Amino acid sequence: MAEELVIPDITDRALAYEALIPQVRALVGDEPDPVAVMANTAAAIKQVFNWLWVGFYRVSGNELVLGPFQGPIACARIGFGQGVCGSAWAEQRTIIVPDVDLFPGHIACSSAARSEIVLPIRGRQGSVVAVLDIDSDQPDSFSSVDAEGLRHICAPLEQLLT
Ligand code: SME
Repeated sequence: MAEELVIPDITDRALAYEALIPQVRALVGDEPDPVAVMANTAAAIKQVFNWLWVGFYRVSGNELVLGPFQGPIACARIGFGQGVCGSAWAEQRTIIVPDVDLFPGHIACSSAARSEIVLPIRGRQGSVVAVLDIDSDQPDSFSSVDAEGLRHICAPLEQLLT
C-alpha cells in the first residue's frame, strides 16, 4: 500500500508539527520493529522540513551507534559525553545549538551544518536508549517549539526501545 505524507505549510512550525504528529502516528501504526519506526520517522521529518540531516543514534554500551537517518553520511560512533549527541545522552536533556561553531566539542559530520537539536529518547526502563539528532544548514534553526513537536513525534519509540 502506498504511504502518502500530506506536507503541511511549515511557515508556522507549531501548526506544522500539529499536522505531522498524527500522520507519523498513523504511519508507524502498530509496527513493533524499532528500526522500521526510526527509519520512517526520520524520513517523515526530513520530507517535511528538509533539514540537512535527520537521524537516530542508539545507545550501545558506552557509545552511541548510528541508526536510521536521512542525509549525508555521518560518523558511526559517538562516545558518552562527546559532541552534542553524547552530551544530550550524558545530561539526559534536549540540547539546542544555535551555532555549532560555538559548541565546544561539536562533532562536524558535515561541514555544511550550522545549527543542531538533539533529543534524548528514553526506553521502557526509563533510561536514555537513543537520541534524535537534526542538523540544519542554517544558523539558529531550532527552538522549544521543535523540542516539543519532536518529542511528540518520537513518543512511539519509547515503547519500542529498551
Ligand atoms: N554533530 C553531532 C554529530 C552527529 S552528526 O551531526 C550527524 C554531534 O556533535 O554530536
